[in-house]
Amino acid sequence: MGIGATAGVAAVGGIALNARASEGSSSSSASSDSLVFDPDAYSKLTTTVTDTDGDEHSVTYHFWKAITYVANPVDEKYQSLNVSVPVEIDGTAVDASDAPILFANSVGGYMPSSVADATGIGASGGIVGPGGGAPGGTASASAAPSASADASAAPNANGNTNNTGGALNTNQLLALAAGYVVVEPGARGRTLKNSDGEYYGVAPAAIVDLKAAVRYIRSNKGRIPGNTDRIVSAGTSAGGALSSLLGASGDSKLYDTYLKELGAADASDAIFATGAWCPITDLEHADGAYEWNWGANPLSSGSKADQTVSKELRSQFAEYQAGLRLKGLDGTRLTARNYDEYLVRQYLEPSATTYLAALSDSDRAAYLAANTFITWKNGKATFSWDDFLTHVGARKKSAPSFDAFDLSTGENNEFGSGTTQARHFTAYGQKNDTTGLTAKRLDSDIPELLRLMNPMYFLVDKPNQARTKHWWIRLGTNDSDTSHTVSANLAAAAHTLGDDVNHLYYWDEGHGANTDPGDFITWIAKVTGHRSKVKK
Ligand code: DHB
Repeated sequence: MGIGATAGVAAVGGIALNARASEGSSSSSASSDSLVFDPDAYSKLTTTVTDTDGDEHSVTYHFWKAITYVANPVDEKYQSLNVSVPVEIDGTAVDASDAPILFANSVGGYMPSSVADATGIGASGGIVGPGGGAPGGTASASAAPSASADASAAPNANGNTNNTGGALNTNQLLALAAGYVVVEPGARGRTLKNSDGEYYGVAPAAIVDLKAAVRYIRSNKGRIPGNTDRIVSAGTSAGGALSSLLGASGDSKLYDTYLKELGAADASDAIFATGAWCPITDLEHADGAYEWNWGANPLSSGSKADQTVSKELRSQFAEYQAGLRLKGLDGTRLTARNYDEYLVRQYLEPSATTYLAALSDSDRAAYLAANTFITWKNGKATFSWDDFLTHVGARKKSAPSFDAFDLSTGENNEFGSGTTQARHFTAYGQKNDTTGLTAKRLDSDIPELLRLMNPMYFLVDKPNQARTKHWWIRLGTNDSDTSHTVSANLAAAAHTLGDDVNHLYYWDEGHGANTDPGDFITWIAKVTGHRSKVKK
């Protein structure tokens, strides 16, 4: 069970919470004062965190709830953040004033995410509607946040099931127990609609919100605990895409007008490091990449996706990949022709090797007997790409997977505009539209929106100096929510620029897995140079 799945929260009595949050009022008048963090407006909570060795730690922390992070919010419910700062771990005081800041979003499915109803760390109101921010975490940590006055809290007091038990809660709680500051930002998402029927959370709302939240933190340097120059972003799936984008696009001017409109704090939005689990990104190239990867795999019904469409998309991928001119982590120039071998060699075989090496001799023998496509020799797994594809089995999505001809995907909604719920965002999708559209061309604002939403733009087309230079990327080998090339290209693009990239795949894991959360926490300490400050 993942951390947070057992989270229980008791009422916080008699503690002054942030006035704006507790009043729940909305102020549209821009005032720079409204973006000043109040160091005293916290409640004190205690939680138990089980670390990845199974040891329990008692963590007392200060919790700031639902701070609106822009002066002119469109919807405070989403444009607010929570802050958790550890002050005592296992009875010893800690000083987090210079600790890394884990900036953990809970976006899933490009849906809205709110922390406004949270009653403690990792217990956020989380995803509104379906989508699930961080599915499938397999971490061993668990937590039971409670008011310090009452340790007998009821489990799942926030009633939220979408955002419990996943990667982010795990990361957040382990970060707290490691002495880091944890910031949980909410963000607008694609389904939000105002009374005029206008979609106000579609692209680029979520990334603009996350940037505004980073600016809020930065502008409160010295007031907000933690090292504002060591912000480490984390997110899963759509949240992983946004985490990657946040890292890649730091301080880009392209977002300025949007940020100004919201009354975002005047500060840098560059971050130090990016953690991304199964990022669903590079959306305008994802259909081709998907068919290149999963085109031969059957749908869950057993039938194949439209093979004419699949083939056309696959050839689009070949052209796209050639144009990227990316070097893989091993120096190989990546093309559609060699990418299968690259994935097998660089990621899949090492992933299977790690998995098999950790098994007992008898469990390994049983696994190998059931999976004869794997050759196990001298402590190493080898197999072919085709056999790997057969092993994974049914593909999750039909073709095209992202820009559907009938405008039915979440991504079509993500590129909605005004009162239009869903739009095409690829020329191929537009050309093959089945919804009766007469326009032959994409709407004229789409190319700019694609740039604003794609980390590859800031890594390949216009390499951004202010990008994060440290990347932690993870993906389950069974995850067919997008192509395996999407994560691998992100890693290769960062690597090609000389960045520090830590990317591996989790063997036999599906979408949203996070099976090495402790390693992520250790990695944060390593890349930020952080030494824990336990007060003696
Ligand atoms: C997510 C999953 C998807 O398959 C997708 O297309 C977009 C987002 C998610 O889990 O966040």
